[in-house]
Amino acid sequence: MSRPARAWLDPEALRHNLAKVRERAPGSHVMAIIKANAYGHGLTWAARTLGGVDAFGVASIEEGCELRAAGIIHPVCLLEGFFAASEIPLLAREGLIPTIHEPGQVTAIAATRVPLEVWLKLDSGMHRLGFPLEHGNAVFTRLLEMPGVSKIGVMSHLASADNPFDTATDVQIKAFLSVTASWGIERSIANSAGVLGWPESHMEWVRPGLMLYGMSPLIGRQAIEFDLRPVMTLESAVIAVREHRKGMAIGYGGEYVCPENMPVGVVAIGYGDGYPRHAPSGTPVLVGDTIVPLIGRVSMDMITVDLRRRPRTRVGERVVLWGRGLPAEEIARHAQTIPYTLVCGVTPRIPRQEIGDGH
Ligand SMILES: Cc1ncc(COP(=O)(O)O)c(C=O)c1O
Repeated sequence: MSRPARAWLDPEALRHNLAKVRERAPGSHVMAIIKANAYGHGLTWAARTLGGVDAFGVASIEEGCELRAAGIIHPVCLLEGFFAASEIPLLAREGLIPTIHEPGQVTAIAATRVPLEVWLKLDSGMHRLGFPLEHGNAVFTRLLEMPGVSKIGVMSHLASADNPFDTATDVQIKAFLSVTASWGIERSIANSAGVLGWPESHMEWVRPGLMLYGMSPLIGRQAIEFDLRPVMTLESAVIAVREHRKGMAIGYGGEYVCPENMPVGVVAIGYGDGYPRHAPSGTPVLVGDTIVPLIGRVSMDMITVDLRRRPRTRVGERVVLWGRGLPAEEIARHAQTIPYTLVCGVTPRIPRQEIGDGH
């Protein structure tokens, strides 16, 4: 028997969530964001499962080339563009579409004649990547005149769309539209939060990531409210059940002290697998059919749980850390992080396994 920790991947859920994107943004093309190993789900697995999308978005040439090597023929956008002019021939050869966000990249493209599609990135308020809006017209005109540029789209990124009450999103959308209105090219600004919360952000292309994986990007809103299904279920098993006496301290630092005689379960998952080290006592863990609280510090390979609510738990019983039956958003809230970091952080030693017969 191998260690029971697994990330189960549900391809039907991934396709279902894509259908939800299409329902929400029926007039838009979909660029599925699968950077960072498809948010920890597996780059090529996600790309193959999402064959029905119009394009993919990744962060690096390496990710783009991995997709091509796996036989993926969709348009692939590099969200950070290229990092050196010497990479341009490879981009052209592999048909990868760079985002152009800084002057050095414009200069590099001007010097090349290989035909290249590009996405021009404008900064509409995130103040991370992109040309300032007031420079947009000049850069766009320059790119239009370049023989090496065969097609141009224009994109920007929303900084605060996860908060439905933040007026900055409206300001960003309006500013982006006003600068690009007369350009007559495809535009894109919506991430998952834009898709779900800001219909006016949809435009010609939407770029969802998190919602495809079945998690809610909107503060205070659950994925289930949008009929999104978790794609990843991080699972392991109980590997020991102990009876501890009142006053016994559990785990590193002895931070949790048993308030009474009680059963404590040990589960084979820890920060070495990507379970958040800073998840505090009280973080929910699904043991069999019962939510029980994590107690004590998270170790590298194990966590301990309070089994008073489920005293008959046996070694070998299934445990869900997040996913089906226990939303990752809830674990993120307890661990004071965001669901993105949980799924992205699942380490390579966790086997990714597609849900199939018998699960
Ligand atoms: C440029 C860009 N577009 C789209 C996305 C997708 O965002 P989300 O996962 O919130 O949908 C990201 C993710 O960080 C991004 O960097």
